[in-house]
Amino acid sequence: MKITITGATGLLGKTATQHFAAAGHQVTAVDRVDGEVPEGVKLVIGDLTDLDFTDSVIAGADAVVHLGAIPSPRDERQYFVFRNNCDSTFAVFSAAVHAKVKVVAYASSQSIYGTAWSDDWYSPQYLPIDEQHPLVYQESYALTKEVNELSAQMFARRGKTAFVGFRFPLTHDVEHIQKVAEEFKSGEDKRVSYLAKICFSYLDRRDAAKALELAATSDITGANVFVFSAPDSFSYMTTEETFKKWHPTTELRGDFSGYQSPFTSQKFIDRFGYKPQYLLDRSKM
Ligand SMILES: NC(=O)c1ccc[n+]([C@@H]2O[C@H](COP(=O)([O-])OP(=O)(O)OC[C@H]3O[C@@H](n4cnc5c(N)ncnc54)[C@H](O)[C@@H]3O)[C@@H](O)[C@H]2O)c1
Repeated sequence: MKITITGATGLLGKTATQHFAAAGHQVTAVDRVDGEVPEGVKLVIGDLTDLDFTDSVIAGADAVVHLGAIPSPRDERQYFVFRNNCDSTFAVFSAAVHAKVKVVAYASSQSIYGTAWSDDWYSPQYLPIDEQHPLVYQESYALTKEVNELSAQMFARRGKTAFVGFRFPLTHDVEHIQKVAEEFKSGEDKRVSYLAKICFSYLDRRDAAKALELAATSDITGANVFVFSAPDSFSYMTTEETFKKWHPTTELRGDFSGYQSPFTSQKFIDRFGYKPQYLLDRSKM
């Protein structure tokens, strides 16, 4: 299939580009920053907030994997992240519908629930956190993710393009997550409050790429959102103990006496039959 991947020289985009190219797809990689792409992949440099540019890189694609964004709220005024991430995503969705692309698979984020980046301490209302959990946030990065999910709903009503948003957690190589987990346990990692805010949830970027491929090449219709993260947490304490310590107001619905992820990916697993494969080695923790 012909796939346009945005944010292709970024952390997730690099892996997605390698994954789709290795799976035999014809990939057009797009980013505003130069970088290495696999042999046979065309890299086009430009800004996705420019609709003419975005039209030009999406025309003729069967599917779009949209990962181009500023991936955190580094923005005191709550303005620039909003402008870049909403503008570019709106242009990508508009271009995809205009070009009659079948599926747009895009990165939303677990930051959408508000616990990760709000200045005040926000705890989830309940576990496991699913697609229905309320979205309560204090900053523009989370807002962009909700706006983008709403934009997908609107564009899905206007045309036949399907949209699949992924609420990803901290996504990196599992080897990196393993190091974070070990440093956290040994007390060396000083970002304890940040790690608690993201609820110790993680995903390996190869699993993210596989999930994006399954969605982008599927016959799904409408606007869809899926939570997708590893089935375990990277806290060294059980999930029950972890939440008692950092999020005591959270209602635990179900058994959290092990190291279960606070997020459930069941909706995705039921639809696509794929579970994350790259997991922590708890015996090393
Ligand atoms: N990495 C994570 O832990 C994580 C977790 C949840 C969600 N996400 C989401 O996944 C996506 C990718 O994140 P990442 O970690 O790879 O970030 P990244 O910063 O490594 O990559 C993003 C890429 O997008 C490009 N980009 C940004 N704005 C652009 C624009 N206007 N035009 C063209 N290119 C633009 C950047 O140049 C960069 O190469 C983002 O939507 C992010 O919010 C990431």
